[in-house]
Amino acid sequence: MHLLIPAAGTGRRMGSDRNKLLLVVGSKPIIAWTLLAAEAASLISWIGIISQPYDWQDFQTILTQLKLSKPVELIQGGSTRQESVYNGLQALSHSAKEVLIHDGARCLATPDLFNSCAQAIRDCPGLIAAVPVKDTIKVVDENGIIQSTPDRRQLWAAQTPQGFDVKLLKQCHAEGVRQGWEVTDDAALFEKCGFPVRVIEGEETNLKLTTPQDLAIAEFILKTRLGEE
Ligand code: CTP
Ligand code: MG
Repeated sequence: MHLLIPAAGTGRRMGSDRNKLLLVVGSKPIIAWTLLAAEAASLISWIGIISQPYDWQDFQTILTQLKLSKPVELIQGGSTRQESVYNGLQALSHSAKEVLIHDGARCLATPDLFNSCAQAIRDCPGLIAAVPVKDTIKVVDENGIIQSTPDRRQLWAAQTPQGFDVKLLKQCHAEGVRQGWEVTDDAALFEKCGFPVRVIEGEETNLKLTTPQDLAIAEFILKTRLGEE
């Protein structure tokens, strides 16, 4: 299974002056943890890191240290995540019928989650890892007034990996460009084109490291895991 890792962001909400994926958590850069999980997932056979050329030297240094057994390619990122994934899809070899896409910033996803997504994508054209939301979610207008309270039993928090039939996802991305759709994940493009996307049980610990507080939480989770080994 081919895996694309969007890693071309700037980490604005992290407040760091460089790509947040290069920040160190638990003695390794964030992207290194993501790569180690992909390396350990037996069903992943190829890894594409979508990233900005100004970060390539740093990513190369990390790759040299990790000595992964799987082929890894650096692919040029775009100015939005959507553009980055678009570039990644163009870089896939023709042999890739399905693809998993996993945010570099979700460095706590386990190899088991990659494998269960890789397994499940053989039976449906689109899927995402997600978890039921624990909070009651409010829809709020620009004046801070609540407009509605959707039934929590129907709400899931989307994660990655997300898996797709490559041909269909390419079509959805092309349609997105034509229509000017701006989305924050690939499932949204798939949905807008009317294709079914299945939800599979994600992991509570599969956080997207976004703010400085997330670094402290990730540090704690990694330490707990190492203690359990
Ligand atoms: N990403 C990408 N290309 C972009 C923007 C984001 O590949 N132009 C990637 C990020 O590197 C990250 C993933 O998409 O792994 C999820 O995005 P997010 O967590 O929002 O990261 P950033 O965009 O870097 O952070 P921020 O939105 O706070 O600037
Ligand atoms: Mg972003």
